[in-house]
Parts: sequence; C-alpha cells; structure tokens
Amino acid sequence: TLPRVYVTRQIPPEGLKILRESGQVQFELWDSDDAPVPRKELLQKVKGVDGLVCVLTEKIDAELLDAAGPNLKVLSTMSVGFDHLSLDELKKRGIRVGYTPDVLTDSVAELTVALLLTTSRRLVEATHEAKTGGWGTWRTLWLCGYELANSTVGILGLGRIGVAIAERLAPFKVKKFIYTDIAPRPELASIINAEYVSFDELAKQSDFLTVCCALTPETKEICNKDLFSKMKNTSIFINTSRGGVVNQEDLYEALSTGQIAGAGLDVTVPEPLPTNHPLFTLKNCVILPHIASASYTTRNAMSALAANNLLLGLRGEPMIKELKL
Ligand code: GLV
Ligand code: GLV
Repeated sequence: TLPRVYVTRQIPPEGLKILRESGQVQFELWDSDDAPVPRKELLQKVKGVDGLVCVLTEKIDAELLDAAGPNLKVLSTMSVGFDHLSLDELKKRGIRVGYTPDVLTDSVAELTVALLLTTSRRLVEATHEAKTGGWGTWRTLWLCGYELANSTVGILGLGRIGVAIAERLAPFKVKKFIYTDIAPRPELASIINAEYVSFDELAKQSDFLTVCCALTPETKEICNKDLFSKMKNTSIFINTSRGGVVNQEDLYEALSTGQIAGAGLDVTVPEPLPTNHPLFTLKNCVILPHIASASYTTRNAMSALAANNLLLGLRGEPMIKELKL
C-alpha cells in the first residue's frame, strides 16, 4: 500500500497535481484555503500518516507529532519560515523537513520594496486624503515623506532575501548599504557592496531599516525600545520576516511619539492582527496581511517545491530544499 499523506491546506494547484500524478502517495487534504484546519481535526487526521504537508498556520509541535505516531518520516512545509516547527522535536524523532526557500525570493523582495515606498512616501494616507476631501489644494509640505536617493539602507539579517531587496533598491540611488548578522557574510555582502556594522550602528545609521532575518530564540523581539531609541526620527522601519522579531508595544511607542518616522509591516503578532489593535490607529504605520510571497507564480512554485520535497523525502532521497536539523 502507498504511503499515507495529510495535506493541511488546499495548496495551489501545481503541488496537488504533482502529488496526484506521482502515483506514489495516497493523500488526504483539508480542502479549503479560507481557514486553517481546526486543531482537533488535524490531530485526528495525522494519525498514522507517513508524510505531512503543512503551511505556516499549523503548529508542528510534540503534541502533533505524538498524535501522528512513529510512521511519520517526512514533513514538508510550504514556507521559507520555520518558526511554526519545533525543530528539536522533529530532530528527536528523526523526521526530515523540507521547506521552500529561493522560489519566493523575487516576490518577497518586490513586495518589500513596494511596502518601503508605500510607507516612506505615505501612499496609504495620500490615497485616503484624495478620496475623502482632504485634497484642498497643492501644498508645499503636505504629505512629504523621505526619499531613497542618498540614503543609507540597513539590513537586519543578510540572506538571499536581503540581497534581493538591496539589488532592487540600488537603482534608486541608495548611497550605502549596511547590514548586521550573527557574523559577517562577506560573499553575500560583496554582491551588494554592503558594509558589516554592529547592531547599534545599524540602528544609528539607517534611514531605512529592513528586517530580513528568521525568527529564532535569538531574534525574538530583537527590534525593541533599545533599537528604536537609537534610530533617527526620520527613519523608516520595514518588516517582511516575522512579527515575533518585533516588540509591538515598543514599536507603537516609537511611532506614536515620533521616535521613528514610519513603519511598514507585512507580519505581526498575532496574525491576523485584531482590527482594534492600536497599530491600526497610526497614520505612519502601514500594515499588510502577510502577502510578501503572494504572487501566482511564486505560490505555485512553493506548492510544487513542497510536493516534490515530500515525494523525494518519502523515497529516502535528498530533498530539493531540506532544513538541516
Ligand atoms: C512566508 O512567510 C514564508 O515563510 O514562506
Ligand atoms: C510639481 O508637480 C511641480 O510642478 O513642481
């Protein structure tokens, strides 16, 4: 009999087609993309499966892995982020883990640039004013923002995505790219001519600070009071990585007191962010509903990669993209 697989979401068609046509697995699917599978149902459905395909709304922890049982050999997440996975628990059980880096780099970098410009040039405020009668006349300092030309752009956590963002921003005549990370990353940095600086210097020098690191115990709420208080009051903060990297109370404080000029967030804690959250009351905060990788091309590529990782893993072969545990 074929290996049994549970897929926790109606993932885009390319991945489902690969699973269906492989003839290699029998799979069951939470056949909706409107809401995550309820936890209780998930714990039932994973019983005895050999493989699991998930998305970032599913917490893959000891409880779930225990519910699945010892047949589970391969987990394939349709995401580049892995903070929803208990890596220790997976490792302990010898479960291999596939994920989907690289295929989303272009899409995430494009969205990050769009969010940065939307925030720095106050586009959401501007369309609102135009539509609601605030556009009295052409005014000299009305809706003024900050430009990329001659600016210093700081990257917190330099990886593939940070490089891709910098490559797209360079034509806007950015003066200087700086970055910080656990250690210098000279090979990546040389692609974009970025200088390695300390965390403090990143805060002090950046006109635009963009967060591109993974959420780990080391990066949890690394963007807090301490960081914001060192930033310029003309600086723009952008986060398209994970909400947990930011202390949101501290960010609210920094934005509402003018300690920094603006923030653009594609990720928050929790997700969705409740509509009555204080951050939504701020004109200088642009909030998107976690859409950085949301292009048709990329989401289908992520779906296909997740399916292929799973099938390779179940065959005992190296996955295309496998997390080192
Ligand atoms: C999106 O946030 C992802 O991790 O792929
Ligand atoms: C702006 O539209 C200008 O003409 O300066």
